[in-house]
Amino acid sequence: MHRLDQETRQLANEVVRYALERISLQPPPLDGPRSYEELHSLYGATITPDGLGGHEVLQRFVDGFAPATLSTDHPRYLAFVPVAPTKASVLFDLVVSASSICGTSWLEAAGVVYCENEALRWLADLAGLPEGAGGTFVSGGSAANLSGLHSARDRIRRLRGGRPDRWRLLCSAEAHSSIVSATSIMDVEIVVVEGDERDRLTGDGLEKTWSDLDDDVRDSIFAVVATAGTTNSGIVDDLRGAGTFAHKHGLWFHVDGAYGGAALASETRRHLFDGVEEADSFVVDPHKWLFSPYDCAALLYREPHHAAKAHTQEASYLDDINSSAEWNPSSYAYQLSRRVRGLPFWFSLAVHGTNAYRVAVEKGITLATWCAREIERRDELELVCEPELSVVLFRRKGWTDREYQLWSQRALKDQVAFVLPTTYRGERLLRFCFVNPLTTEDDVAAIFDSMAW
Ligand SMILES: Cc1ncc(COP(=O)(O)O)c(C=O)c1O
Repeated sequence: MHRLDQETRQLANEVVRYALERISLQPPPLDGPRSYEELHSLYGATITPDGLGGHEVLQRFVDGFAPATLSTDHPRYLAFVPVAPTKASVLFDLVVSASSICGTSWLEAAGVVYCENEALRWLADLAGLPEGAGGTFVSGGSAANLSGLHSARDRIRRLRGGRPDRWRLLCSAEAHSSIVSATSIMDVEIVVVEGDERDRLTGDGLEKTWSDLDDDVRDSIFAVVATAGTTNSGIVDDLRGAGTFAHKHGLWFHVDGAYGGAALASETRRHLFDGVEEADSFVVDPHKWLFSPYDCAALLYREPHHAAKAHTQEASYLDDINSSAEWNPSSYAYQLSRRVRGLPFWFSLAVHGTNAYRVAVEKGITLATWCAREIERRDELELVCEPELSVVLFRRKGWTDREYQLWSQRALKDQVAFVLPTTYRGERLLRFCFVNPLTTEDDVAAIFDSMAW
């Protein structure tokens, strides 16, 4: 029996038709930003006392706001870390919204927490974490890093039974900006460890820094943070060395694989992650290289009960949840009410199977390797360093920051590509990040051709 009124049914048809059309587009439009003034003059104010009605608002979205918004799944969107969700995951995202689920606890959401945990288990197995490992999905790598580091400090504080004037952690200068942000929120100081010739955090570098520190500074350190796939250059730290160092000195070992952790699924790159199984907490974002829609980041712990001590919120109205022995996702991060944001990822993984994910991840790596050879083949380009994962850094000979900016702006305006310059070792140059399995060699060649002026 239909319980939707006529108006809602019509809106449902329009919205679902638009969503289906959007995911059918191959490629989708790249689109791009417009100024506030332009958007305001064309589409005006949208929040009114009586409402504009579904048809009108959807039309403004389709005609105005969507085209002023970049499509991260365009095959030539190569800036930042793109995301190209599978159609299965996008469709299931609609189901998640339609299902009004609160994913806080097993009591409220047993069935779907079971599903999320299946997906988390696949990630834990890829990393080689033990049977008891587990965690939760949060909004992004930033939230996951903050929550993981809070768990880390809470665990070490309980173990040591005291607190220094100021807590500290060790990481390299290449650690993601969200680590800096998390330490600022937590009032923690970063001790920067010098990297090796590829800027990697290593066991030797950590030992050297450690030996230079005063005893009271050493006593204030609670964690080592390694990056498994730096955002700017795609480099994986020496996880074996960093993990061994951390545990030798009684420190928590946090591995940020928000971008690069997906390459654990790659047969050709798995060896780079040797030692990740030592992680006390590990982050990987399905909304980066695991083809899930935003927002979806996985946070896993080797021994989740330590994280639960740090994160479980106590209130009388939550007693029934907290006294249960079942799995409550909210207890493992800074969150309470939560969207089951791991569910679209789980659905797609279950539909396609893990082999399809391995193949899709490998495509980004293969394309990065091809791209490096193509750069070497072209006289006007220069490879900056051999790609380890799927980030490629290169120079356009003779260009300064100004030319990079002008070309990047023109490429977007002409809808050729979305590529931004970055800074690497003090030099402005260009960066591609390949995660979309539909990006082809022809796409990359067309982008290079547009630089030949
Ligand atoms: C290594 C790394 N860590 C953390 C983050 C932050 O993730 P998010 O943007 O999902 O908060 C990123 C984002 O690119 C990243 O590459």
